[in-house]
Amino acid sequence: MSQRVVIAGGAGYIGSHVCVELMSRGDTLLIIDDFSNAHPEAIDRIRELSNANVVVLKRDLADPMHKADILEAIKAFRPDGAIHLAGLKAVGESVAEPERYYNVNIGSALTMIEALKAANAKKFVFSSSATVYGDGNTNPVNESGGTAPTNPYGRTKFFIEEILKDIAISDADWQIVNLRYFNPVGAHPSGRIGEDPNGIPNNLFPFMAQVAVGKRDKLSVFGNDYPTRDGSGVRDYIHVCDLAKGHAAALDYLAEDKKGAIDINLGAGKGYSVLEAVAAFKRASNRDIPFEITPRRDGDIAEIYAAS
Ligand code: WQD
Repeated sequence: MSQRVVIAGGAGYIGSHVCVELMSRGDTLLIIDDFSNAHPEAIDRIRELSNANVVVLKRDLADPMHKADILEAIKAFRPDGAIHLAGLKAVGESVAEPERYYNVNIGSALTMIEALKAANAKKFVFSSSATVYGDGNTNPVNESGGTAPTNPYGRTKFFIEEILKDIAISDADWQIVNLRYFNPVGAHPSGRIGEDPNGIPNNLFPFMAQVAVGKRDKLSVFGNDYPTRDGSGVRDYIHVCDLAKGHAAALDYLAEDKKGAIDINLGAGKGYSVLEAVAAFKRASNRDIPFEITPRRDGDIAEIYAAS
């Protein structure tokens, strides 16, 4: 059954893939994005790929001056529910500017909750992260794993999950899915949307892509002395189109009138090391990926991957 869905952060890397997936199956979307880390062209490309029109509201969910507009637009849209992907996501930056991370990420989530409540559309799919697990679990990690995020970014995700659980307890009409993403990578097969971070990429895949096209000289592999099979860090890399399908499945699940809040891992269920990822990227792109081994990055863990 097609649904009317608010997509906060819909112009970003993951959001744009979610929009294409949902619009291609007939859902009607209202995208809210401030374009602080997204390109306006992403909207044209979403329209082109899904062959459908979409309404876009350029507003900052964390800005009190924008709140009245946002509440009004969401109410007027008459949504069934929302997917909330808007937020800041650089781990290192969150350590340097924690207040900004708490303000923006938690403020945006609270505005979305308020707007959905006012619109009487109490279905909420939240873009959480496997970063909520921290380093204390045995792999593979399932949803009952302990939570101990190790940086402010991860703690914003964890706190928002907890806020949503409190809200589900306070009002039994709420239906909430916390999607805990592992490491999203790749792009839509058309090549028209994908990941294009501003500045020097923090994450492995956009960095490798920039080395492959000659924009950067070489990759730094952060550590080869972890207790893993080749000494480099192991992560669970999930294709962004599979991740997008996970959002569609979460909406279908909520359409069955499931009440309360649930946590769901979105991973591929398999761990790959940095060195394996470099070798695979090299093979797939047919380009050399020069790299050097450098010291471990602060805050990194040795290994995490999802249970399948
Ligand atoms: C993957 C592996 C690095 C860059 C983070 C967040 C997570 C999610 C995704 C949001 C690690 C190694 C990386 C490089 C390297 N959040 N690496 N050289 O740290 O697993 O997850 O990003 O957007 O919440 O915590 O992802 O891609 O940065 O690192 O060797 O230049 O690659 O040490 O082992 P991470 P990542």
